[in-house]
Amino acid sequence: MAEEKKKRDGFGSKLGIIAAAAGSAIGLGNIYRFPCELGNNGGAAFLLVYLAVVIFLGIPVMLSELVIGRRSQSNSVGAFKKLAPKSAWPVVGYMGVLCGFLIFAFYSTVSGWIVEYIIKAVSNSFDGRDLAADFKTFKDLGWRNVIWQALFIFLTGIVVFKGVKNGIEKCSKILMPLLLVMLVALAIRAMTLDSVKTEAGLAFLFRPDFSKINGEVIIRALGQGFFSLSLGMGVMITYGSYVKKNDNLTSTAFSIVLADTLIAILAGLVIFPALGGIVPKNPDFGFIFNVFPKLFSEMPGGYWLCIFFFVLLAIAALTSTISLLEVLVAYISEELHMKRQWATVVACVGTMIIGSFASLSLMSDTPFAIGGKSVFELMDFVSSNILLPIGGVLIVVFVGWKLGKQKFFEEVTNEGSIKASFKRIVFFIIRYLAPIAITIVLISGFIKKEEDSDNTTQPVPTEQIQSVEDTIQ
Ligand code: TRP
Repeated sequence: MAEEKKKRDGFGSKLGIIAAAAGSAIGLGNIYRFPCELGNNGGAAFLLVYLAVVIFLGIPVMLSELVIGRRSQSNSVGAFKKLAPKSAWPVVGYMGVLCGFLIFAFYSTVSGWIVEYIIKAVSNSFDGRDLAADFKTFKDLGWRNVIWQALFIFLTGIVVFKGVKNGIEKCSKILMPLLLVMLVALAIRAMTLDSVKTEAGLAFLFRPDFSKINGEVIIRALGQGFFSLSLGMGVMITYGSYVKKNDNLTSTAFSIVLADTLIAILAGLVIFPALGGIVPKNPDFGFIFNVFPKLFSEMPGGYWLCIFFFVLLAIAALTSTISLLEVLVAYISEELHMKRQWATVVACVGTMIIGSFASLSLMSDTPFAIGGKSVFELMDFVSSNILLPIGGVLIVVFVGWKLGKQKFFEEVTNEGSIKASFKRIVFFIIRYLAPIAITIVLISGFIKKEEDSDNTTQPVPTEQIQSVEDTIQ
């Protein structure tokens, strides 16, 4: 009880907030998922739609979460309890916590693979290998995956254990600039290798073919935007609760979105010039592990490039898993009145257990599959395609209709002390446009899922990877 009376932990500086929140947003979603989505959905045309989505929906939804967090000074469940006492709204927070466990569980599986691949890169085990076969053999090892995954969760735990200012903020302030420098270096390397491939890659990324824009592209851009910006499950509510009362929320939201988008484009500048503009159809997570080591190892300085690439991925993944864990820890410690350190242990052990099902479900003879879908795929689908968009709609509806215009304006203007020029239009979007747009996307996503329920999220067939590799050579 005395614990609660103490001053709440929080971010020390505006740069710290931006580093931590951008760290959450920037992750595998930018470096791997964004280029794949772009590749599958019309290249530059997708980029344009994506930009529109993040500007018109991403910023308002991000701002809504930050407003809820800072106003309530509470975790994602406590926030709704405080701002809407005796109502059903805290359910949105509980959904976020559940979603956090699910995303953390499958995201840490992939993060564990990155650890394995850093080791492989250091021991130079890519040369002349059939990488697709190696990747499959590795996944079949089951428990080895679980151990790397547990290690990654443990690492995340160490940072969160230390607290918001001394753990999350400190770590993000070091890792995020490092990530930027590494990515710029990789992009320069990728773009100075082969002028024909670079040109093809850049054309793919920046020369839009407007005929490619259709409903599906818009839906996918929105899904990608939400995942990439870590929206819809309370990460930004939790981080928002650590923002000081005199910081400008609108410019913070804008900076996070800008950083996330620039990093995604920068990742495109590594991947497409390296691939020469050719992307495999329906690539899955395996793509980074199958194709990239081969691509890089054939370039001059390939040994270091591979190590560089996987370390970069690990950094990107770590700052994202930190935010997922923080949502859980903030909830457990504040709502269940547990010491922060114990809450971290509980959340980590819980995720290790749930996460091991995700890892083991990717073995060829796994018992952890339901209706032909692995637990890994189901966790991904339920969280990214169902819980995040529903969470997103409920969050904007909450701010637009329950919290209301006056309190929203108070929060974005710091009680009238700063001018927030776009506040009216942003509130209009939050109240009307965003809920409608996200609902349409959510429903159409379901219809689409019904239509092609038997050919989504299929792993990339080996022949296809082979053909990409051939083209690359
Ligand atoms: N945004 C991260 C990425 O791009 C992933 C992530 C971290 C996330 N926290 C989240 C996604 C919360 C949705 C919700 O990789």
